[in-house]
Amino acid sequence: MKTVLIQCSPKKRFCASAYFLTLQKLFISGEKVSLKLRTPADHERILEEVKDAQNVVFCLPLFVDGIPSHVLAFLEKLEQYCVENHLHFNVYCVANNGFIEGKQNEPLMQNFEHFCARAGLTFGGGVGIGGGVMLNVTRILFVVEIALLVLNVAMSVIETGNFFPASSWLSFAENFALILYFNLGVLYYLARMGTAIRKGAYFGKKYTRILIPSFVFIICADIFFIISSILEGGIFRGWLSKKKVDAK
Ligand SMILES: Cc1cc2nc3c(=O)[nH]c(=O)nc-3n(C[C@H](O)[C@H](O)[C@H](O)COP(=O)(O)O)c2cc1C
Repeated sequence: MKTVLIQCSPKKRFCASAYFLTLQKLFISGEKVSLKLRTPADHERILEEVKDAQNVVFCLPLFVDGIPSHVLAFLEKLEQYCVENHLHFNVYCVANNGFIEGKQNEPLMQNFEHFCARAGLTFGGGVGIGGGVMLNVTRILFVVEIALLVLNVAMSVIETGNFFPASSWLSFAENFALILYFNLGVLYYLARMGTAIRKGAYFGKKYTRILIPSFVFIICADIFFIISSILEGGIFRGWLSKKKVDAK
């Protein structure tokens, strides 16, 4: 059984879609091919790979309550390609969005259902994930936690010869459990969808989110976006800055 996983974020690095694709891959067996869809130059390679695939999983961000335009352009091409070549693979979808409610991905899921109907493909369902940006940040936190643990153990070995400084291991275990908890909804649904993909079965549309209360999410998101706005060219991404007038 061949499953093609397509990472559709237009970002070059550190996108949430890549994170969810990696998690989804953990729960799929058989031949797995991961590809990126960023520009039209990627189209041919993907079309070649889906030819003999049983399942295709799109991992993509929600843009303006819908499918990003570069993915739409590809879907138009794919529709024609599937009709001409009589392809009938299953299509699954892992969509993530910035706001907290995963349910906001419902219109995107419906677009995929309609696409499958037109292209003669089988829509297998999908997982809509809210708080995608924040969940993506948890993977950095995980790496930071491991780095801190290694540092603390190294210091402890140098100072006392003890490989198991209790406080460092306990702090790592606590923070790891917290990160895992934030991701539990995502892991649960991706594991269940992985089972459906393995069987080529219908999974349905499921929605989840980062498992933190909404008011905590809003405070964290506000702080995150103020800091990233300042780092990326001034507060509110330059909305309040004076605009250059075109001389022409
Ligand atoms: C142009 C654009 C439009 C977006 N529209 C929405 C939206 O309608 N609703 C939402 O919750 N998030 C929206 N977002 C946030 C993205 O869905 C979110 O950042 C996502 O995690 C990006 O995934 P990626 O890192 O895989 O590209 C938008 C982001 C961009 C850049």
